[in-house]
Amino acid sequence: MKNLGNGVSYIGMDDLTLDLFEGQYILPEGVSYNSYLIDDEKIAVLDTVDARCGDAWFEEISAVLGDRTPDFLVVHHLEPDHSGMIAEFIRRYPSARIVAGAKALQMLPQFLPEDIVLSGDSLCSVAEGDVLDLGSHKLKFISAPMVHWPEVMMSYDLSDGVFYSADAFGKFGALGKCGFYGSEDEEWTCEARRYYFNIVGKYGVQVQALLKKASTLDIKAIRPLHGPLLGCRFDGCDGAEDSLGKYLELYDCWSAYRPETEGIFIAVASIHGGTLAAAEKFAEILRAKGAGRVVVSDLSRSDIAENVEDAFRHSKMVLACASYDGGIFSPMSDFLHRLGAKGYRSRKVALLENGSWAPCAARVMKDKLALMKDVEIVGKPVTVRSRLKSSDIPALEELADAIINA
Ligand SMILES: Cc1cc2nc3c(=O)[nH]c(=O)nc-3n(C[C@H](O)[C@H](O)[C@H](O)COP(=O)(O)O)c2cc1C
Ligand SMILES: [Fe+2]
Ligand SMILES: [Fe+2]
Repeated sequence: MKNLGNGVSYIGMDDLTLDLFEGQYILPEGVSYNSYLIDDEKIAVLDTVDARCGDAWFEEISAVLGDRTPDFLVVHHLEPDHSGMIAEFIRRYPSARIVAGAKALQMLPQFLPEDIVLSGDSLCSVAEGDVLDLGSHKLKFISAPMVHWPEVMMSYDLSDGVFYSADAFGKFGALGKCGFYGSEDEEWTCEARRYYFNIVGKYGVQVQALLKKASTLDIKAIRPLHGPLLGCRFDGCDGAEDSLGKYLELYDCWSAYRPETEGIFIAVASIHGGTLAAAEKFAEILRAKGAGRVVVSDLSRSDIAENVEDAFRHSKMVLACASYDGGIFSPMSDFLHRLGAKGYRSRKVALLENGSWAPCAARVMKDKLALMKDVEIVGKPVTVRSRLKSSDIPALEELADAIINA
């Protein structure tokens, strides 16, 4: 438990033992399930936590409230990492009312055991602009459909300017590992970006709509459902070092699908190493020509979510792939599938293929990229036969010029 000032406590939980977030994302530093308690004339708990941490979470509530009971449970998001303890909350605090948007209330029974019957009196449906008056704190609701689930509601505290942003502005990493506040967290941008593009990336339009609404609010602090608390600390800090501008600008850049970093990301799928060696040679040529930042990643041996992040992050990309059963080698297939699913767009891409008898990877990659919005293939794809030969260098030089000048 941490006192955030103004009668608000952080009652979230660090999870350092979960193997995969949402069943697929590695967690080198764990993850936090953030939850907040506002102790005012009325007491509100904002979101529960994953069932993995349920007992400890109730201890946090008791540590703040003693034997008093909450009046409200505000549900901003129903995904199980936040709704995991709603059922037990209802059992323990039957007089508390559940405050959520209409869509969330409609979906809520799906997330509860069948023995929990919700009565109309215990539910409080809120819509965009409605205010939950707790006394000095007043939570104004902001709907954020498809950021990244349909029922998502966020709230803005009219009294202290805190924006409770649900999964937006969240990141991987337990707070005990990465720091409690954004300014303490050296990895904020990297891990928030991996979180954003893999989990929210497809919904750039909806995030842009949310940012437009947020721009009308005087936001002093952002309190997401995962990762460090951002902006002004009410428990005393010099606000300047943790200004919100950086986070809002990054979210604007990411959700508008603008490249964040000038540079070339080279994604490689290689069975026996020939394509990887060719890609490394290509990177060397690019650097020698003054291409600036060039990053090579072996798709077989790196975190696929990090690769998705790097594709969105950089202004240009090179795909290097071995031909495989008349198609492309599986790690590239998986990578392109993910890029398409997450809405990869508006980038320049160059292609390098390898094949021993009937190279076909460039054609297949081209077909997959054609389904993505505003992805332009630049230069003439280069074909390597098994191993890079000195006779291949002129074609690589030409392709390097094409991607540098694109
Ligand atoms: C299972 C398998 C399927 C393959 N299918 C094709 C193919 O359809 N066309 C082709 O030209 N080469 C095919 N290859 C050969 C590789 O593409 C070729 O050896 C290439 O040089 C491998 O590059 P690497 O050293 O980067 O793995 C296949 C190789 C394997 C192991
Ligand atoms: Fe979520
Ligand atoms: Fe979440």
